[in-house]
Amino acid sequence: MIVDALGRRFRSLRVSLTAACNYACGYCVPDGKRLIAAEDELSGTDLARAVELLVAATGIDKLRITGGEPLVSPKFDEFLTVVGGLPVADVSLTTNGQLLERKLPAILASGMRRINVSLDTLNPLGFRAIARGGDLASVLRGIDAALDAGMRVKVNMVPMRSANLDQILPMLEYCLARGIELRFIELMNMGHLKTSASYGREFVGRDEILAGIAPRFEYERTDAPFDSTAIRFEIAGHGVFGIIANESEPFCNACTRLRLSSNGYLYGCLSNARRHAIHDLLALPEHMALSRLQSRLVTALGDKQQAFRGEVTVMKFIGG
Ligand code: 5AD
Repeated sequence: MIVDALGRRFRSLRVSLTAACNYACGYCVPDGKRLIAAEDELSGTDLARAVELLVAATGIDKLRITGGEPLVSPKFDEFLTVVGGLPVADVSLTTNGQLLERKLPAILASGMRRINVSLDTLNPLGFRAIARGGDLASVLRGIDAALDAGMRVKVNMVPMRSANLDQILPMLEYCLARGIELRFIELMNMGHLKTSASYGREFVGRDEILAGIAPRFEYERTDAPFDSTAIRFEIAGHGVFGIIANESEPFCNACTRLRLSSNGYLYGCLSNARRHAIHDLLALPEHMALSRLQSRLVTALGDKQQAFRGEVTVMKFIGG
């Protein structure tokens, strides 16, 4: 097993199925741009082979399927079937929920039991302004359908000063009422935000999020797994919420994440633009592929930073 000087190793793999998305959120793409698939994206079979090799080469026991938006990809069903058969204890999905209702039968058939849905507001107009695509009602139907089917659902919300600051309490109440753990994500200084003044204007930090909750709920800090990106709070009798506080309370020292982009590159760290191609390994005999992969994994682990500073890497390729 590969371990770095801080004791970090890769345990959790996030695979971006495609960079394409049916939204165009401002924190992901600049105004006027759409998210389209990269030209050199791997097929579903190749991506699944890459995952198979990564699982064999590391101690990965958690796999998250992301994008872009994974449910828009024609590769989704096939990919799901293959990874459902791999020896990975925990397979989950991050989706914007737009196509969730339609895709739920395939998701359930794969054995997946938990999903994260990205949703930044419950206001239909605000939704249009943030997502610049899709509609709120479809997301809410998707969430209800997943809950009805017995799935564990988490919701991700990125609070932004001009877009949805008024939604912190409504979103929390919506989630608590449904047994959903809401995760507030501090805006990350990624992609085009890294070179834009809007990052500083829009950023809303942990203390301000908590200050928005305090008038309505009493909360107490509670446990989180050692390699969790979220700090968690319990509201007695109501439920739990979390904050992914990249800036206010960085979690780099306990990070176990490895990312695979839809075009076949490994990223060892969100805060580092270095990437390592692995598409050239997929057709090799297993023992050769695995030994070459090991050395690339050592390099990728070495890319991990000790503090999150953001990076120009575009989220659509690596799925957050
Ligand atoms: N900052 C914070 N969160 C982001 N996401 C995408 N881009 C950013 C950013 N710049 C979130 C999405 C989704 C998750 C995968 O990452 O909203 O919930």
